[in-house]
Amino acid sequence: TPEPTPEPLKLGFDSLPNSMTDACVVPPGYTARVFAPWGTPLDDNAAPWDRNGNNTSNDLLHSTGMHHDGMRYFPLDGSSSEGLLVVNHEYIDENALHPNGQTFVEGKRPAEEVRKEVNAHGVAIMHIRKDANGGWDIVRNSRYNRRFTSATPMSLAGPVARTDWVKTPYSPTGAQTRGTNNNCGNGYTPWGTYLTAEENWAACFVNTGEQPREQKRVGIGNTVGRYQWETAAGDLTEVQGEFARFNIAATGGDATQDWRNEANTFGYLVEIDPYDPSSIATKRTALGRFAHEGAAYSLPEEGKPLSFYSGDDSRFEYIYRYVSDAVWDPRDAERTDRLAVGAKYLDKGTLYVARFNDDGSGTWLPLTEASVGKDGRTLKDEFGSLAEIIVNTRGAADFVGATPMDRPEWTVVHPSTGDVYVTLTNNTSRNAQTGTNAPNPRLNNANGHIVRWHDDAASDTFRWEIFVFGSDAGADADTNRSGLTEFNQLASPDGLGFDDRGILWIQTDNGIDGGRNNAVAKSTNDQMLAVIPNAVGEIEGVGPVIDSGNQADLRRFFVGPNEAEITGFAYTPDFTSIFLNIQHPANWPAYDTDDATVVPSSDVRPRSSTVVIQKADGGPIGV
Ligand code: FEO
Ligand code: CA
Ligand code: CA
Ligand code: CA
Repeated sequence: TPEPTPEPLKLGFDSLPNSMTDACVVPPGYTARVFAPWGTPLDDNAAPWDRNGNNTSNDLLHSTGMHHDGMRYFPLDGSSSEGLLVVNHEYIDENALHPNGQTFVEGKRPAEEVRKEVNAHGVAIMHIRKDANGGWDIVRNSRYNRRFTSATPMSLAGPVARTDWVKTPYSPTGAQTRGTNNNCGNGYTPWGTYLTAEENWAACFVNTGEQPREQKRVGIGNTVGRYQWETAAGDLTEVQGEFARFNIAATGGDATQDWRNEANTFGYLVEIDPYDPSSIATKRTALGRFAHEGAAYSLPEEGKPLSFYSGDDSRFEYIYRYVSDAVWDPRDAERTDRLAVGAKYLDKGTLYVARFNDDGSGTWLPLTEASVGKDGRTLKDEFGSLAEIIVNTRGAADFVGATPMDRPEWTVVHPSTGDVYVTLTNNTSRNAQTGTNAPNPRLNNANGHIVRWHDDAASDTFRWEIFVFGSDAGADADTNRSGLTEFNQLASPDGLGFDDRGILWIQTDNGIDGGRNNAVAKSTNDQMLAVIPNAVGEIEGVGPVIDSGNQADLRRFFVGPNEAEITGFAYTPDFTSIFLNIQHPANWPAYDTDDATVVPSSDVRPRSSTVVIQKADGGPIGV
């Protein structure tokens, strides 16, 4: 008998109304369970989470960290009921982490408190399995369970590794560093590894001395670090530099006698092999040094190079593409020496930055020694070798004339068309002085938008268009250019996920913990929406693709609790479980249930957490 023609993919739920409560909301017929909130033990070395904040630094080293963000489910033997869930822990809330918030003794942070904060950052690998009731549990003490923190030894690879830029007392050869910081979005690779993106790492450092340009351009401060970890140090040159390394002032000796280069070992995409518990996380410097939000790869084609796309999340920063020198060999997807495959594709290639033209075309500008920028000078003239260009990625992108964007957050690639999507979360600093440009056309962009493009790794040009403009439903037509309604109004798009069926999941981060600062945030908490997009080039001009003619196709699937952003997207291969993260809730989850839709009956110590969404009938989600 012939194969039946597959039904066209359709969303199978009604769009949710606005919600502002201390709980999650899902459509009828779905469940949402709290899974692995911060402080959940991964093994017996950790004490259970304490409601009063009294867990130790060692507990955090053996538990999930704080402020869950990017995420990916890696199946074991292809399974949809057993796998490795890898989760970023972006930053911390000291008030929730400690009994009474951050403390100081004679102007210094206590070392144990700082160690606990360092261990609450990074990445967790959790071996997870479905139980007899169809819910998910962590396989406690599994050999796969791991934590990477802001102190875990890591390798440096690519053009910056082993250069004078990254030699430190810890690694005089410049081959290693310790820790990964402020891991925001994520990516993954066709060979089964995870990529964690170092975003706001610059704030963890301070340079109380003279700042070179590569430090100024990434925003390293000169008074105190974000958490004042540096104050826990004995003195600036303490040999191990556990905390001294966060003050990167030069002290007059050479680079192996102080921590002047420590910050040059941050700002990268870090590759992790979740399947090999003995593997060492590796910073892939060839993909650039900036506030990486995430990474997404182009559809692999045998015999062609691979592209990886990554946004730099700050106002007026850029979008980057890396193209491998090596061409894709499908057999590499089956290899088990995954970090060697990573070295093949991710350590040698060309980094580009995007220039968007008004007519819907775009150009990838290479950041190589020979690239010509201002006054006819090359990047080699201005910065030097490739290592220096990469350490100064933002400055090199300025020099060649890239297009400043409205805070590029996540990138994702459509599973069959290969179209690339990027969230531009917002930019209220875009004003008459800075001007607009075609891909960022709104002044005072409080709502953000999504741009998409199509390119080919073999080409330096692309075609782009705007997919959707964020707006509240009641805004004027110039703001609400996509004709959004109360059932799909959105602002500050941030997280993105494509599932393999071609459903695009859009998550928002209105930064509500700083107040409800736009009209959407005054009406609803942060959310996740779903849409089934067409392909780039099916409309005239540069968009928006979603306009008042077809806006009903964009549906709200999930709303989070007060003050939390929604971020991170993972799913099982059969689409029956999806995972997302609730980051920085105000008063959630409830203590005595794992039902994420329950409003706590009293004030609770807030816990960022993964939420697992399933259908009550066990079927595939979203359709
Ligand atoms: Fe950590 Fe750009 O969000
Ligand atoms: Ca983000
Ligand atoms: Ca954000
Ligand atoms: Ca965040």
